Amino acid sequence: MEWIKIFANDTEARHRITQDRPQLLVIHGKRICLVLHAGNFQAVQDACSHNGESLSKGQVNFLGEIICPWHGYRFDLKSGRACDSSSPDLHTYPVKSDDSGFFIGI
Ligand code: FES
Repeated sequence: MEWIKIFANDTEARHRITQDRPQLLVIHGKRICLVLHAGNFQAVQDACSHNGESLSKGQVNFLGEIICPWHGYRFDLKSGRACDSSSPDLHTYPVKSDDSGFFIGI
């Protein structure tokens, strides 16, 4: 796994990413959906495992689930688990920050 620097630090990340508003990132050709929910960052694959819609266009509910805008399937942002369907779980990406930056592992 390679850690890719996205922001200069955690403060910048929290300034740039709005709470519960999914943000699409394209890193080395991978489309990743980054979400700040309840003070924590979570990153999952952007493509919905049902039919490929961009989850970055979706919404986040109070349970920390992302809701696909196409057919409304829900996925847990922390685990990637499909909550109410037989669709495959989402791939999740680790996020970390330290003095040297804010990173996503891919
Ligand atoms: S494409 Fe996401 S629920 Fe169908």
